[in-house]
Amino acid sequence: MTINETGVQFARSGQTWTLPASWYHSDEIFAEERVRIFEKNWMLFTWSQRMQKPGDYVRGTVAGHAIFAIRGDDGVVRAFHNVCRHRGAELLGKDEGRCGRHVVCPYHAWSFNRAGQLERARDFGGDIAFDREEWGLYPVAAEEWRGLIFVRIAAEGPTLKEWLGPIDTMAADYPLEQQNYFMSKEREVAVDWKTYGENYLECYHCRTMHPGLCDSLDIDKYVIDVHFEDRFFHLHAPARDGGFTRGLYFYRFPGLMLNLYDWGSSIATVEPIAPGRIRHVNWYFFTDVSPEKAEENRKAAEWSAEIVSEDIDIILGVQRNLEGGIYQRGPLSPKYEHGVLGFQNMVRTELGEGAPRLMAAE
Ligand code: FES
Ligand SMILES: [Fe+2]
Repeated sequence: MTINETGVQFARSGQTWTLPASWYHSDEIFAEERVRIFEKNWMLFTWSQRMQKPGDYVRGTVAGHAIFAIRGDDGVVRAFHNVCRHRGAELLGKDEGRCGRHVVCPYHAWSFNRAGQLERARDFGGDIAFDREEWGLYPVAAEEWRGLIFVRIAAEGPTLKEWLGPIDTMAADYPLEQQNYFMSKEREVAVDWKTYGENYLECYHCRTMHPGLCDSLDIDKYVIDVHFEDRFFHLHAPARDGGFTRGLYFYRFPGLMLNLYDWGSSIATVEPIAPGRIRHVNWYFFTDVSPEKAEENRKAAEWSAEIVSEDIDIILGVQRNLEGGIYQRGPLSPKYEHGVLGFQNMVRTELGEGAPRLMAAE
């Protein structure tokens, strides 16, 4: 069965359609997405300023895996599953901190160096000698890009720069390295990551949902360029007065949003935590984070968070209805919703052979 035959794109009318509603809350789809999308792509994990010195670590979850990143004695950031090789205890119990020379398991005190190798299996008994490398921590790929730390669960895949593709060059003259962390906003939301992404990738709703945004941007000229092969979207619109907005907005599939300005950045990620449920994390960076600027910075961050809240208000209801059993699928606007179609095609493509099989089960 081809994708078109399943009704995604009706060849006769040219009409394109949303994904089936069940995809937004199915355990089976979620399990496929976890392995085929969220374990295979680079995921934004933390920022470099948060772990500047050797031994600094940050703990978190990626694609449902408990992991941590740690800066090594050589200055390189590495990441590992937060799992002891002895009997599986969680090694680090805090969200961030600095370990001593070693990561010591709180259960039976096996110790691992900052490069993840086993240093000591305390008083194990017998003549057993453990190979340091072989008994090292389970690795997770980690790379830094311009002050941001990304991880990838899958061992094989493109480098981070390859994965970012043209974004790397397009963002080159935005001074990310000079920007400092200011604040975070984190929320758990009962929407699927696809419900969130699709909303982000169309401005058909801007006029009805975002009066503040329409005041500042010339929304009639809002454009979303779909870069299908490189799996990203470039969103742009001129400022209201007709001038050029010096800003760069990207959505990198599956769930990374980069809003870059000369004076700061708003960087957000969507982490799926269950079918129909995400953690939305937004970090705000500003070049000037002096106390005198705090109020202005806070206002800029709150303004951007307000747009996210406006979106979340409506898509919570969308998600409820996707789960409600009445709505099955709807038509996509050829004028405004090509970004949604691009996103959905990325989902289908990355799910690979999982997609037709699941669609056939509809
Ligand atoms: S589980 Fe870590 S030392 Fe036993
Ligand atoms: Fe919106």
